[in-house]
Amino acid sequence: MMESLQYYKIPTVALAYPRPLVSMLPVLDIKGLSLSKQNKSIFCNANAARLSSGRVAILHALECIGVTDRDTVLVPAYHCMSMIEPVLWLGARVKFYRVDKNLCPLIDFQQDSDLQDVKAVIIPHFFGFMQDITKLCDYFNKLDVKVIEDCAHAFFGERDGKNAGESGDFSITSTVKFFPGTEGGVLYSAKHVIPDLNITKRPLYQQLKAAKNILEHCQLNNSPKKLAAVQQHKLTDETSQGVDELCYVSKSKLNYLDPQKISLPLSWADSLVLNRTSHEWIVEQRRANYQYLAGQLKGLNNATLIFPELLPGTVPYVLPLLIHKPELHFSRLKIAGVPLWRWEELIVNDCPVSNDYRLKLIQLPIHQSLSTNELDWIAKQLRQVLASDN
Ligand SMILES: Cc1ncc(COP(=O)(O)O)c(C=O)c1O
Repeated sequence: MMESLQYYKIPTVALAYPRPLVSMLPVLDIKGLSLSKQNKSIFCNANAARLSSGRVAILHALECIGVTDRDTVLVPAYHCMSMIEPVLWLGARVKFYRVDKNLCPLIDFQQDSDLQDVKAVIIPHFFGFMQDITKLCDYFNKLDVKVIEDCAHAFFGERDGKNAGESGDFSITSTVKFFPGTEGGVLYSAKHVIPDLNITKRPLYQQLKAAKNILEHCQLNNSPKKLAAVQQHKLTDETSQGVDELCYVSKSKLNYLDPQKISLPLSWADSLVLNRTSHEWIVEQRRANYQYLAGQLKGLNNATLIFPELLPGTVPYVLPLLIHKPELHFSRLKIAGVPLWRWEELIVNDCPVSNDYRLKLIQLPIHQSLSTNELDWIAKQLRQVLASDN
């Protein structure tokens, strides 16, 4: 029978929010360009497959493992739909594992039957904070479960002497979270040979469109009026979150995985940007921006930093912040134009932390293209909005 899962739909009120006044993702920046070919991440290795997105890379990883409609795939209870839809596309079943407050997997399988038919597990380094992946791989491999190390948020990074992406049976990343671009993913394996993935060629018009998208995104986000507009923006008292509406997702009703993109390679323009943007610069800027913003947000009213400090090997994707009263503050932040995302669209499950974080965890940008002025502005908006208790 086709797997059909119930999820919380994003309320229609979300469509009315203004566009964020600062970009959530990096934009093309001349400062970061490098003459030499970059290879700081193992996702730049010659045997890594450059694909059209992270979700497509997950799909190919599942296929490399041999997942079929007879199998089950373990996925974190806290997730985005791009991690789930590749599993549904293959007709496999989804089973959730719980996470703790630091988003580490709670491996509490009591009986063998808990893992019956489980062929693969997806383990993300949420927001760039590395899991104890060596321990997790040992645990699952002993049970004959293959690990997909999900580095969508960890293009760079290292823990216990292991690079992000080096430990899983197969590892994936999503390039747009670290490089300017509109789509891109990579599949890598340090342990297995990646078979022929039947990747076709991108037609010329699509190659040109990808280059145009990168430039347009850059132009859109470099307009000088953006922060001035903010100061004039009046907060309205619209705090409604809408009512939770449940919907179904299944192989025949996917929203994020486009079957036409499964065989497409990364575009030339996206590949060029990945090869020629200084990896050292990205790593340094992201770490510095995270530490700066975290410093600005310390002691914030009505909010808690999940990770106040950065370990030496961490290269963050975003700064996760828990807002204590999302029903009061979330829409106010959106209306103020603060760039933020949250994984509101969750598949219904019984993990207490995931259910709590669904509305409370907001992701704030700390990418390399942000200026101190923009970080200050984000911190100021948060201080102003979160100061109010009603
Ligand atoms: C943890 C995680 N894995 C995989 C993906 C899929 O990446 P992409 O958007 O490139 O398809 C995402 C996307 O947000 C993600 O957050």
